[in-house]
Amino acid sequence: MTASIPATSPHVMNTYGRVPIALQRGQGCRVWDVNGKEYLDALGGIAVNTLGHNHAKLVPALQHQLTQLIHTSNYYHVPLQEQLAQLLVERSGMSNVFFCNSGLEANEAALKIARKFGHDQGIEKPEVVVYEKAFHGRSIATLSATGNPKVQAGFGPLVEGFIRVPQNDIEALRRATERNPNVVAVFFETIQGEGGVNPMRIEYLQQLRKLCDERGWLMMIDEVQCGMGRTGKWFAHQWAGIVPDVMPLAKGLGSGVPVGAVVAGPKAANVLQPGNHGTTFGGNPLAMRAGVETIRIMEEDGLLQNAATVGAHLQAALRAALGSLSGVKEVRGQGLMIGVELDKPCGALVGRAAEAGLLISVTAESVIRIVPPLILTTAEADEIVARLTPLVQALLAE
Ligand SMILES: Cc1ncc(COP(=O)(O)O)c(C=O)c1O
Repeated sequence: MTASIPATSPHVMNTYGRVPIALQRGQGCRVWDVNGKEYLDALGGIAVNTLGHNHAKLVPALQHQLTQLIHTSNYYHVPLQEQLAQLLVERSGMSNVFFCNSGLEANEAALKIARKFGHDQGIEKPEVVVYEKAFHGRSIATLSATGNPKVQAGFGPLVEGFIRVPQNDIEALRRATERNPNVVAVFFETIQGEGGVNPMRIEYLQQLRKLCDERGWLMMIDEVQCGMGRTGKWFAHQWAGIVPDVMPLAKGLGSGVPVGAVVAGPKAANVLQPGNHGTTFGGNPLAMRAGVETIRIMEEDGLLQNAATVGAHLQAALRAALGSLSGVKEVRGQGLMIGVELDKPCGALVGRAAEAGLLISVTAESVIRIVPPLILTTAEADEIVARLTPLVQALLAE
């Protein structure tokens, strides 16, 4: 019998424009819906399912953790927090970690660090530089930092204290902050995700690091979407050979189990003191185990290398199949974070791709975004291209 999916749900709040399918189980990069239809998952829960679905090493580890402890409280020491913090510190070259549950929470904590960093220096109204087209989350503070009027509409008054600049323009940043003693931090994504897969240029990142050092600003890099191996290095900014002062993480960190983290370097690590910040669920043993095992398995299975190699293959194949079509503006990204920008809105592709057995997303209206699990094989990458190409061709012909 075919299960029918209601167009809207009577009881769940209507906050998402959903594709009318309901997924039931997954294996690797494949998922099946309640009617048994198979999909190739090129979305990975929006850059979350690092290890794909039902991973043979992750699932038993989480099952074991369920028999030990799911949750205690931050009233007590949580040894698994120490383990995951150490893994993150070693891989980032930074020094201390605060654990929370999501990307916006990690960013919210980063913004609190920036403000307190300012107040500790006697700056009464600290200001943070943020970017056009940025996306940092949907709490009041993080949507205020976000550079998308659609995300902000209806939620004013926005939080003050942000200065907005365009990406990759160091002179614009200098001008916007000239003689402003209240600036305390620069906050950005190495590769903007929701904004349309827009990378910061390597030279810009290096100039920015220098400027932050000269001015005493915190460099705060939101690696919620582009971090955790997605680009082929642990963190996307590492391609520029820089180290941030504050780095929010979430999404891929727990391979599907909700976990967020703010990693801080020496300039920012001691800004928050007992009583300044906290969360009930943050850093609970189940989430920490998911993080520890995700990193362990990524290393055992060579997933950074896989993201780099299969990502390069996929990007080249997309460019070969689509790059010369007149409606395709650009194929860009790094590793397994790829955007294909068309010259017209292409939201309709999400549903059409699902019909064709492929899960993708469209962001910034005209950018097809591909952020699959990091276990993707070259054969699966070729399958993504084969399924997507005729759909793009048809849409461009309309
Ligand atoms: C770069 C970035 N920061 C923050 C967030 C917010 O994360 P969450 O949805 O877990 O709150 C997202 C989500 O898409 C993101 O892409």
